[in-house]
Amino acid sequence: MSKDHVQIFDTTLRDGEQVPGCKLNTPQKLEIAERLEALGVDIIEAGFPISSPGDFHSVTEISKLIKNTTVCGLTRAVKKDIDVAADALKYAKRPRIHTGIGTSESHIKFKFNCDQDEIIRRAVASVSHAKSYVEDVEFYAEDAGRTDNEFLARVCEAVIKAGATVLNIPDTTGYCLPEEYGAKIKYLKENVRGIEKAILSCHCHNDLGLATANSISGVQNGARQIECTINGIGERAGNTSLEEVVMVLRQHPYLNLDTKIDATHLYSLSQAVSDKMGVPIQPNKAIVGANAFAHSSGIHQDGVIKNRETYEIINPHDVGVTESAIVLTARSGRAALAYRAKKVGYDLTKLQLDEVYDEFLTFADRKKEINDEDIHAIVKSCNVEV
Ligand code: KIV
Ligand code: ZN
Repeated sequence: MSKDHVQIFDTTLRDGEQVPGCKLNTPQKLEIAERLEALGVDIIEAGFPISSPGDFHSVTEISKLIKNTTVCGLTRAVKKDIDVAADALKYAKRPRIHTGIGTSESHIKFKFNCDQDEIIRRAVASVSHAKSYVEDVEFYAEDAGRTDNEFLARVCEAVIKAGATVLNIPDTTGYCLPEEYGAKIKYLKENVRGIEKAILSCHCHNDLGLATANSISGVQNGARQIECTINGIGERAGNTSLEEVVMVLRQHPYLNLDTKIDATHLYSLSQAVSDKMGVPIQPNKAIVGANAFAHSSGIHQDGVIKNRETYEIINPHDVGVTESAIVLTARSGRAALAYRAKKVGYDLTKLQLDEVYDEFLTFADRKKEINDEDIHAIVKSCNVEV
């Protein structure tokens, strides 16, 4: 059975770049955009053109550079924003305008000080205006995660009529539980007239650490686009991690959902984004963290050395990591020491290993991690014939 395609909408250069202190210049953005295209994302959200002349310039240059991937610019539901975005996107081979407005009670009351009908009027006007420039118009209902489903359905229906082809349902505050977010998508699939003309998109923030789970729940319930960033960077606790959702879908083939991402680029692109933005990757970050394929306890090391699959559900090569690491600490066992010693040239017999292991433990109790130089020093200090 052929798998359903889930579009990957990368917003590293827009929502990701909203992290304080992470601003990128145009050449840096161009390099990342080119690498995102090579990775195989379907849509690159290149920026928010009206936000600054620098962002306008970056979106323009990315539009000129990118050949096959859709290039998208963000706007508020404001005519001038849309005019400026259309101008920045005028060289794009596949331009998309991403426009929208807040739909939750608090957004309507505190941000816009209006009522639901006025929100629908502004939403429809912005989509119609964007449609006068480009065919591909995505509408976002900001804070959809906390928006009443019936009203959300009314908004969706109205913007589809106005020509929106993608409906973004953001959990802007990262509030929803996976079941709740999935149920929201299901409700829209079942209750919005004309929904077959549009794609539902998941845009989840990570305030409760649920962005990946919510996005997966969204696609399990009928969404066919995920908005995400490399390393999950973004406002506050960040956005959905691109590498996580891609690998979740790949590791669970029975879901019958896949993307066209070439996962072998994931690790190097993650490193590049971290370097350019100056945001370190937490060591235990899924897929791309320094410890994602590192094994340090004796029981795990013994298993992995016998067969990688005992403790690894992903082959590190599949995501561009050269090899799993067997880290030597005071928790490591003989199998790990023998394995690492062999790698640096010592094929120890059982008796030799026993002797070296005792010395290793004394050393490792003093030092957090034993490196190759330490192994040489330990073996030499044992005076074994190798
Ligand atoms: O989180 C959000 O609601 C957004 C929209 C502007 C798409 O980033
Ligand atoms: Zn967002």
